[in-house]
Amino acid sequence: MSDFIIRGDICTSADKKTIQTYEDSYAVCADGVCKGVFAKIPERYRDLTVHDYRGKLVMPGMVDLHIHAPQYAYRGLGMDMELLSWLDHYAFPEEAKYRDLSYAEKAYGIFADAVRHSATTRMVAFGTLHREATELLMDKMEDTGIVSFVGKLNMDRNSPDDLRESSAEESVAETELFLKDALGRYRNTYPIITPRFVPSCTDACMEGIGKLSERYGVRVQSHLSENPGEVAWVRELCPDTAFYGEAYDRFGLFGKPQQTVMAHCVYSSDEEIALMKENGVFIAHCPASNMNVASGIAPIRRYLDLDLRVGLGSDVAGGQTESLFTAMVEALQVSKLYWRIVDNSCKPLSVDEVFYMATKGGGEFFGKVGAFTEGYEFDAIVIDDSRLPHPQELSTKERLERAIYLGGDIKALVAKYCRGKRIL
Ligand code: GUN
Ligand code: FE
Repeated sequence: MSDFIIRGDICTSADKKTIQTYEDSYAVCADGVCKGVFAKIPERYRDLTVHDYRGKLVMPGMVDLHIHAPQYAYRGLGMDMELLSWLDHYAFPEEAKYRDLSYAEKAYGIFADAVRHSATTRMVAFGTLHREATELLMDKMEDTGIVSFVGKLNMDRNSPDDLRESSAEESVAETELFLKDALGRYRNTYPIITPRFVPSCTDACMEGIGKLSERYGVRVQSHLSENPGEVAWVRELCPDTAFYGEAYDRFGLFGKPQQTVMAHCVYSSDEEIALMKENGVFIAHCPASNMNVASGIAPIRRYLDLDLRVGLGSDVAGGQTESLFTAMVEALQVSKLYWRIVDNSCKPLSVDEVFYMATKGGGEFFGKVGAFTEGYEFDAIVIDDSRLPHPQELSTKERLERAIYLGGDIKALVAKYCRGKRIL
């Protein structure tokens, strides 16, 4: 791995409320790790190659804490439905096709190509319940250079005949095979335990995968308190739990013993929030999906104030796009509606805060990731915002803000680095 320096207008989170900018400065990468940002190249790094992005915006790569790879194929369809009918009419029929590896090859090829060209450098992804297709997805993700967690789903109840595992034993056994195949096989791609959501998994299945998570030291992702219909269904299915999250927690699938990402958390009760805090559960805020399948607005101001761990998710295909810049804008917009319409004590989010969530907030799931701080893994994207021309002088912070709102990741992305390697 070569050591190098990136020159440009550098933007990074100093803390969750503050974007710091460094005009025409130098970010040093050695052994895949950031050595800091400097106004002048320090003497000890004088011999390193400089990748010159003068006049362009340089920022940490985007972190997508929640995306469904197999749903990429039908983005933008069925957006007039609520979650549970959308799952029945679109998600399940599409996902059933991944039993056929030639379909998976084609569809995951399109997905991997799309995320390769996006601003995303880190991703936590759902596959389908099919082990082989999910392993094929992992092969393709590895080729992108993006660092990802990829899950083979567990679904052994309340699912259509062609998208349901025949028993809890089969679901758990296939998951164990998946872990054995995938662990240690890749440099940048890791398996993750993925019960689809409580309605899809029997207690026996949850118990089995909870044990696997502990035995193999593998993390967990799922959905939580997303939509009123779903929350009511979980209450019926689990009458002996006080809140939705407890249905994961009682099987060791809620932040302990392994780190966990829960998508949505729109309707989390006080008790659920307290347990997420206690267990360090990551929340993947997915505002596009929450609008599209009519789930609601997650109280992110409250979560940030309580110091919960919050990142952003595209939730494709609940969300219509893999663009994390779009997710940042939507997070800002829905926070204003929440403040105006739902609770005027919850101040709208700021650009600094959504930028933090898209980088360092989600990045924490991966370790020291999402900022140009010394010791952080070196992930970066470069945006040539001269492609978004403007007549007036703007500060670097204003240019960043504008690039976020104007789709700079789609219109003006010119380079991407992950773990100190240029991947685009
Ligand atoms: N809950 C269970 N499955 C899904 C899914 O595929 N998408 C979303 N948004 N929520 C879910
Ligand atoms: Fe989802």
